[in-house]
Amino acid sequence: MTVREQVLRALEAHRGEVVSGGALSADLGVSRQAVWKAITALRADGLEIDSVAGEGYRLRADDDSLTADGVQALLHTQILGREVLVLPEVSSTNTVMKREYASSCPEGFALLALRQNAGRGRLGRSFVSPDGGMYLTVLLRPALTLDRLHFLTIAAAVAVCRAIQDTCGFLPGIKWVNDVLQDGKKLCGILTEASIVGETGGLDYVIVGIGINLHFDAEAAPELAGIVGSLGDFCEKVPRRAELTAAVLTRFEELYLYLKSGDFAPVISAYRALLCCIGQKILVVENGTETPAVCDGINGEGHLLVTMGDGSRRELQTGEISIRI
Ligand code: BTN
Repeated sequence: MTVREQVLRALEAHRGEVVSGGALSADLGVSRQAVWKAITALRADGLEIDSVAGEGYRLRADDDSLTADGVQALLHTQILGREVLVLPEVSSTNTVMKREYASSCPEGFALLALRQNAGRGRLGRSFVSPDGGMYLTVLLRPALTLDRLHFLTIAAAVAVCRAIQDTCGFLPGIKWVNDVLQDGKKLCGILTEASIVGETGGLDYVIVGIGINLHFDAEAAPELAGIVGSLGDFCEKVPRRAELTAAVLTRFEELYLYLKSGDFAPVISAYRALLCCIGQKILVVENGTETPAVCDGINGEGHLLVTMGDGSRRELQTGEISIRI
């Protein structure tokens, strides 16, 4: 670990409190000059660190900088986030991950951007991604068969709900397949994409893109008012982006380790417990047509079980539903 990373970890462990420069240099076994250089480099990255004369350094409690060091200082994962890169602005973290990093980077590599100018959603939609949100794409190399790819999306949705509970104190629900909702408002979108090896038909890599709205300015995107919500609408203290990112990576890894070991049941049962449509009247959206149905639940593969208006039963593998009010 570099001196810079060690200094940040020490400041992070006492966020909001003054840490003495002398203690830092003694604990890390480096000169005061090296500590000062590390502080200067961290500040250049945007971290808000005060110098308190005669006392030491303080990482401000409300500093919302999003840096690789800042995220990693909060992480205790084995795989996800071992390498983190934060870019100021990209078209889409999923697009950039595929184009620049997916073939060369290790499993767990996490790409973040402060904003996206062409954020992508499911079914060819766009994902509005202004400053202040969390835009993350994680690179995975799972030994899953293609028909089980959706388990990664399911795991990511559960992970986001749990991370929101950890950092904001409320537990949202999930609208099948992967919309994270609170009071009917969408807080997060997930877009999973995969690359297939031509010869074998197996998975080369999978990327899971997660976008969470921390603050949402309804005036900036009036077309989304009433559909999209943000963490700020539902919790008093919106978490710092680094804190939320670390929580998402931590929670995602817990579930990913089950999937890696071939144990799908805990992931499905966690997902089932968070689904907000079970027992409700829904509309099944297919080819632009909406058909009334009742949601009966999901099976062990995460497929939605529904009873259609004519009494017939169906199992939906993928698609979209809307919940009838
Ligand atoms: C959806 O709700 O339709 C999915 C939205 C997925 C958005 C995330 S933000 C990070 C990653 N980069 C993208 O361009 N999309 C995903």
